[in-house]
Amino acid sequence: MDKEVILTGLRSNAEFHLGNYLGAIKPMVRLQHELKGQYQLNMFVPDLHSFTTPIDHSKLYQQTIDNVRLYMAAGMDINHTDTYVYRQSRIPAHSEMTWILGCFTNMGELNRMTQYKEKAQKSDKEISELFFQLLEEKYPEYHKALHESSDTEYEKTYKKQISELYLRWHEASQELAYEQSSAGLFIYPVLMAADILLYNAKWVPVGDDQRQHVELTRDVAIRMNNKFNQELFTVPHEWNKQLEFIGIDNGVRIRSLRNPEKKMSKSIDDPAGTIMLSDNPDEAAKKIMSATTDSVGKINYDWDKQAGVTNLLQILALTEDKDQDEVNKQWGGQDSYGQLKEAVADSVKMTLQNLQAQLSDVTTTQVEEKLAADEAKMSAVANATLEKVQKAVGLRS
Ligand code: TRP
Repeated sequence: MDKEVILTGLRSNAEFHLGNYLGAIKPMVRLQHELKGQYQLNMFVPDLHSFTTPIDHSKLYQQTIDNVRLYMAAGMDINHTDTYVYRQSRIPAHSEMTWILGCFTNMGELNRMTQYKEKAQKSDKEISELFFQLLEEKYPEYHKALHESSDTEYEKTYKKQISELYLRWHEASQELAYEQSSAGLFIYPVLMAADILLYNAKWVPVGDDQRQHVELTRDVAIRMNNKFNQELFTVPHEWNKQLEFIGIDNGVRIRSLRNPEKKMSKSIDDPAGTIMLSDNPDEAAKKIMSATTDSVGKINYDWDKQAGVTNLLQILALTEDKDQDEVNKQWGGQDSYGQLKEAVADSVKMTLQNLQAQLSDVTTTQVEEKLAADEAKMSAVANATLEKVQKAVGLRS
């Protein structure tokens, strides 16, 4: 019998940081080694998904290749016969299937996707920055009041008016952001459903943020199977089963070194809080040394009260491949944050040094050859599913 398919997307348009490496890339590589031989693994690059929001297009091609190189540097065995790596854009069936599936997906369903709403929105920070500009240009009296008037005067005379103005501004900004978001962003989940259904994948290891998309994929697959009275699509397993089987990524959320309440994110937003995988290892160690901690004075694994220290403990366990409990036992109750930071800084430095050395061994040509070979094989699989669906909907006899 054919092996069951595990399918997942490897991001292509952004550079990776330590949080991506420890939370997604490393677990994925571990999964590959554990399951090799028992399952077919489709690790594809959703490069068509990467410009649903604006990007620098001149970088996309090389970024795609570099991200695959990085998976290889991290230990992914892409030459294993059960592992396929391919670009979505090179298999036209993805786009064609998206159109067909889109005609069996409701606007209402897509409207309920929270990720789309989040991505279509502007951040509060962006909105309020523009608001202050607006005040300065159009309402100098208010602007002055905000900066200069005493608290009581402000409360009495201005607070209500300025707050009302801000609320209206906020609402109008969000409406505009929504109007200007791309149609591609809106239909993103349909393309994702095509990615999954074309290859009959039962297992889709993704983070919580993708849950709705996986559920939508199931709904559309079941709907079309019923409508056309045949098993057109393999329906991916329910979310709970996915979690049980793989449980990937859940719980591992590396936080910013500067604002440990927040996730580590792209360096432009938070350069001192983020370690990019391309950072100079010594610089990365320095970022760890100046990480925000707390004034408790004792090391404890406690996300609520000591997020900064806890983040460091987590990074240490993951970079050293140790159980979190073991690391917590070793460090818990000690009072030198400096020593902990040194241990984490060393470990992160080693991790980057190794990864960067491995990376320089993987060439663009190697990756391009692997991609081209797998794209040829996977096209055949995708086209077979597409033809079946084209027959069912009446496009072929
Ligand atoms: N949406 C996924 C993410 O942001 C990437 C992705 C696209 C994907 N198509 C997919 C993941 C299909 C799994 C299966 O992480």
